[in-house]
Amino acid sequence: MTSAIREAFPVLGRAGFHYLDSAAMAQTPGRVVEVVAAHDLAARANVHRGLHEMARLADDAYDAAREAVAGFLGAGADEVVFTGGCTLALNIAARALAGRLGPGDTVAVSRLEHHSSCLPWLALAAERGFELRWLAVTADGRLDPAGLSVIDRRCKVVAVTHASNVTGAVTDIPLVAGVAHAAGAVLVVDGAQMAPHGKVDPRALGADFYAFSGHKTYGPTGVGVLWGRREVLAELPPALFGGGMVGEVSDTGFTWAEPPRRFEAGTPPVAQAVGLAAALDWMAGLDWPAVRARLALLTRRMLDGLTALPGVGIVGPGEMEARLPVVSFTVAGCHPHDLSHLLAGRGVAVRGGHHCAQPLMRVLGLDEGCVRASLAAYSDAADVEALLDGVAAAIAVLR
Ligand code: ALA
Repeated sequence: MTSAIREAFPVLGRAGFHYLDSAAMAQTPGRVVEVVAAHDLAARANVHRGLHEMARLADDAYDAAREAVAGFLGAGADEVVFTGGCTLALNIAARALAGRLGPGDTVAVSRLEHHSSCLPWLALAAERGFELRWLAVTADGRLDPAGLSVIDRRCKVVAVTHASNVTGAVTDIPLVAGVAHAAGAVLVVDGAQMAPHGKVDPRALGADFYAFSGHKTYGPTGVGVLWGRREVLAELPPALFGGGMVGEVSDTGFTWAEPPRRFEAGTPPVAQAVGLAAALDWMAGLDWPAVRARLALLTRRMLDGLTALPGVGIVGPGEMEARLPVVSFTVAGCHPHDLSHLLAGRGVAVRGGHHCAQPLMRVLGLDEGCVRASLAAYSDAADVEALLDGVAAAIAVLR
């Protein structure tokens, strides 16, 4: 089955190429590239503005893409906001909620967060005068349930990742949602790493906002999604201003369009949204229980193979329960960038450094960061063995 999956990705046919950087950006099926090109060649027009034939085609394609994302999330199309990416989606959520936050309030973010999920709140804290509280993580890089006790009645927003881009640990979102909602707080979830691993249902999880990106979900760059619970979106002001998000404009003010368009100022990423729908359609054709079982075996092999090498330390859970096929590690005496560079020389693509998660690096004592190998549905045993051989060879050179 892996090879059938791999055939959808022309780039994976390159000899000696082992792509283990899917948590940064997944490869995209050739079909998705064709769909984006076909849209731009046959239906390229702005949306919700024109009455000509091309505009109608573009409107239909864009609306269908929104329906496709809604299907992926088990949501209503009116809850799906297209954005330029996951980072923008999380920033829009923060900016839309800003008016509810002020001195005396708190916002809780976890130390697992990618910068895109914590910096919007750090920046707002300085602007709005609320207190930012950090939710603790365990030594193996999971959200520590005991740390949720800092969420009290002063807490207005809780922001957590569904899965860490560094440790691969999957957060128990229903648990966090229960605590957040008992305190009266809104729960914003960064789904960037989780969404590439199959359908998610943010409403059932208890989220109020859920963001993910197109490029990690086998789709185009330049598109992301902010799902918002209908009843929450309806009460919030827009975060960005411009064409498309207004009703009537006077000299002194304007009315807002209904969600989701209230949150889509300016020309949206139309072709990219259409491409994302094609990527989600490709994902829908996979046998996810089989894919997950195969990736779990590969992850176990990575964990065991790396642990057997001298000086290697795993960053993140050693067990397979509630973790993604993302394995980060350090090698004593080897800088992560040197290791990544040597692996690149062998055709093995990984990411080394702080992974845009400096608060996590600090709390785990990883001053120089770590190396991360991340798998996707197309990853195979040859990729993993190339990584293990490459790390063993690098250790021999660097230590
Ligand atoms: N957020 C992406 C990563 O973790 C870029 O690598």
